[in-house]
Amino acid sequence: MSHSTHITHTTPEAFDPFIHAQTPAPDLFPGTVPILNHKEMVAILADHERYSNAVSQHLSVPNGMDPPEHGPFRKLIEPYFSASRMQDFEPACRDIAKRLIASCAKQGDTDIMRELATPYVLQIQCAWMGWPQEIHDDLWQWWQESRKAMKTGDRNRIKQQADHFTAMVQTQIDERRQLGENAPQDLTTELMKEQVNGKPLSDDEIISILRNWTAGEVGTLSASVAIILHFCAEHPDIQNEIRQHPAQLETAIDEILRLHAPLLTNRRVTRCPVEHAGTTLPENTKLTLVWQAANRDPETFPCPHAFKWDRDPDQNLLWGKGIHVCPGAPLAKLQLRMFMEELFTQIQSIHPGKIYQPASFPETGFEALFLQLT
Ligand code: HEM
Repeated sequence: MSHSTHITHTTPEAFDPFIHAQTPAPDLFPGTVPILNHKEMVAILADHERYSNAVSQHLSVPNGMDPPEHGPFRKLIEPYFSASRMQDFEPACRDIAKRLIASCAKQGDTDIMRELATPYVLQIQCAWMGWPQEIHDDLWQWWQESRKAMKTGDRNRIKQQADHFTAMVQTQIDERRQLGENAPQDLTTELMKEQVNGKPLSDDEIISILRNWTAGEVGTLSASVAIILHFCAEHPDIQNEIRQHPAQLETAIDEILRLHAPLLTNRRVTRCPVEHAGTTLPENTKLTLVWQAANRDPETFPCPHAFKWDRDPDQNLLWGKGIHVCPGAPLAKLQLRMFMEELFTQIQSIHPGKIYQPASFPETGFEALFLQLT
């Protein structure tokens, strides 16, 4: 039970995956079959012969690809998240966390989404990309507009926002092409020099990769920051335990995000008839992998709704599993660890505040979250 004064309660359409794991609501996933069971989900993630990632007609590198096309793109991406790159990026990441936390309000309630979570994630993503300040401002603007468009469900508005993002990145590519040897040595320039199967990446492939690395992750990462802070505020005993065991911070973060997913779903489509829950699903059936439900499956996780330090990390599907397992996990983990380490250094205690408004499905985390940081 929450300690907060809930000024705004969960909206009726808000998604409580636990409830839906017990009684799946088909209307939440129109036209698709929800996969909620951990064992079944793990089997699907391992079976590319029968379950495909090619669920959308939009290019999505490498998420929307299957073997053998997927492998070479995946191989290209992974080194960008290597341990040595993460080590090099750590000081910049820590500095952003330090400055942002130092500048946020310590009197009364802090607006976590606006003052901390979203600006932190946008600043980090831009710093990691090596993008200039103007892009950061454009990205912030774009993110606000894009969320509004998603909420209206208006396809034209959503497409306009997607086109706007494409134009932003295309400008970066064009500038670098003009500058030639003098182009800034950043990730965009590096990607422009990459080859797959002996051919340079097309602009569309570069834009798709960058969309995934920036726009695609702002929501998941900012939701993660807010979910972790809210959990600490609501569980002072566990907050203290985490403070006392800094080496266990990553374990605690993975367990909090197992309980409260920052990314709710991904999709697959069947390539042939498959068995599911005692029936046969035909070829071309769309499936929704509901990460949160599988991560609270009582058959896999004893006392699934409780925080436990000693879970088997291999069972946690927070980062997915198999060939599409999140390649960005090292960067996400670094960001979250830096943020929490700096917060625990500067803030003595995180308490519930007055406003707590969960996001509405398909978003997760919080629409608004105010906490007391003292
Ligand atoms: C808390 C933050 C994050 C979470 C919870 C998360 C979770 C996931 C999950 C569950 C998948 C598997 C999807 C599937 O099987 O269909 C995935 C894939 C992916 N993630 Fe993440 N992710 C996070 C952050 C990031 C970041 C920061 C990046 C890059 C900057 C990133 C890039 C990707 C990419 C490119 C894929 C597709 C990989 C492939 O298809 O081979 N993610 N992520």
